[in-house]
Amino acid sequence: MYDVYQIKKDFPILQRPLNGKPVVFLDTAASAQKPRQVLEKMRQIYETEYANAHRGSYTFSEQITSEFEAARRTVQLFINARESREIIFTRNATEAINLVAATWGRVNLHSGDEVLISQAEHHANLVPWQNICKMTGAKLVVFPIADDGSFLKEEYDKYLNNRTKLVSVTAMSNVLGTIFPIKEMAKAAHSVGAKILVDASQYAAHSPINVQDWDCDFLAFSGHKTYGPTGIGVLYGKAEILSLMPPYQFGGDMIEKVTYEKTTFADIPARFEAGTAASVQAIGMAEGLKYMLSIGMDNIASHEQKLTTCATARLLEVPNLKIVGTATEKGGVISFDIKGIHPQDIAFVLNKENVAVRTGHHCAEPLVNRMGYTSLARASFGLYSTKEDIDSLVAALLKAEKFFRED
Ligand code: ALA
Repeated sequence: MYDVYQIKKDFPILQRPLNGKPVVFLDTAASAQKPRQVLEKMRQIYETEYANAHRGSYTFSEQITSEFEAARRTVQLFINARESREIIFTRNATEAINLVAATWGRVNLHSGDEVLISQAEHHANLVPWQNICKMTGAKLVVFPIADDGSFLKEEYDKYLNNRTKLVSVTAMSNVLGTIFPIKEMAKAAHSVGAKILVDASQYAAHSPINVQDWDCDFLAFSGHKTYGPTGIGVLYGKAEILSLMPPYQFGGDMIEKVTYEKTTFADIPARFEAGTAASVQAIGMAEGLKYMLSIGMDNIASHEQKLTTCATARLLEVPNLKIVGTATEKGGVISFDIKGIHPQDIAFVLNKENVAVRTGHHCAEPLVNRMGYTSLARASFGLYSTKEDIDSLVAALLKAEKFFRED
């Protein structure tokens, strides 16, 4: 039995009243709140065994190195990777995608090649490809989605061809909530000889991931959206692909042998982890993943599905409100517009009621434009969100709608 009220108690920030009232946090898609298990683990490391990982031969350094490598194995388990060396710690999902563009892309993309992305991509899965295509002479191609935000298989198949070298797609849109059929897309990509990168930044906090079953070549996600700290993310890559990629950054710990004339590089994962590792953040990230696993990814997915269905129905009570993105396969993200009221004004009134939502183009400007808007308001759910949060959202929106209508 999913006891959301018990789960919510694990989140100190959600217990803290603001201006005498509880906070209704509906911006988990931007960054999730942290359970005390993550906060306590990071504090424990700093207070009892902190040192630079992989550097010293004394107890603290050995302890943190072992915790850091255990964190890598937790990520491996979380996404069901074959080997822990397929897990590269990065600064965030954005850096993971940039790493692939700057290394795999630089070596493998040439004039005449194509990189295929969907219309639903976050800037982090668009701009790095735009940039590397410009540098290599490859072409960035965008396949359309439906007006309701759904994936269109026939369009994807139409755009995929033997010039496609890489498909880079989100598993779940941060604006529309649309869930993409990654396994099917990977199979089609491989059938034309292309690799596939999955941006799982949103998906990772909502549903189970199995990279071996999906058969994706790369996958990126971040710690701060999966109930862990900021400053840490993950790139998964198949070992045989990562092993052939040149380094991304150069410096300590990524080398095998250095002379003034020449350097040879370490094997994966160290080759892609130059400099002092964000070890405590990686350990904190792993604690966030363990927290989700202890609740059960399927249970989280089903809890958030129920909230999404409930919120979709309840939001219709608000006059002139339109939900943007109504695909059948959809996660806990609801973007909306209220005709005649700027999303920023909506957020202003909501904030007075302690209801936190995000507004703007959500770092997906071409997508928001394609849906016919320049800015949208967005409510998003996490494993701690409740039906009462939806009640508060609807009540605050009714207030905002009335306030601006009467104005
Ligand atoms: N990508 C994050 C969002 O969707 C920041 O809000």
